[in-house]
Amino acid sequence: AVERTLVIVKPDAVKKNAVGDIIRILQENDLKLLALKMIHMSKEEAKGFYIVHKDRPFYDELTDFMSSGPCVPMVFEGENAIAKVREIIGATDPAKAEEGTIRKKYGTDVGRNAVHASDSVESANYEIPYFFSALEIHNL
Ligand code: CMP
Repeated sequence: AVERTLVIVKPDAVKKNAVGDIIRILQENDLKLLALKMIHMSKEEAKGFYIVHKDRPFYDELTDFMSSGPCVPMVFEGENAIAKVREIIGATDPAKAEEGTIRKKYGTDVGRNAVHASDSVESANYEIPYFFSALEIHNL
């Protein structure tokens, strides 16, 4: 099925000037870019985005990092986009990510792992409207 997924270029990868390369990689894999912006989240905004992880031991560290600098949320669309993007991005821990994946190329560790992507349709349905209104998502 054609799906939409939320991708975030995290603060570490924004600082590495990797935004353009990450967009290029995803677009070259037949994923259509429908929306993007650059934002610097507050701690509270980062906590709301990652609310599903609120009871995890890394929640505070994760939300500190995600509010430490600007990041670039984007919406991509394509056939099987959710699983496809996760494959292109690679494993959560960059040390375990396959050669050629975005996290292998730009990630540092499990926290500073360059990108986030929705892990299910349910997550995408929460994450996309967290950053984008209907008017900000373009039908290409
Ligand atoms: P992400 O795809 O953004 O979704 C949740 C994030 O939690 C994940 O990527 C990691 O960056 C982060 N995360 C997972 N495990 C840990 C950990 N042990 N320590 C710090 N951050 C973690």
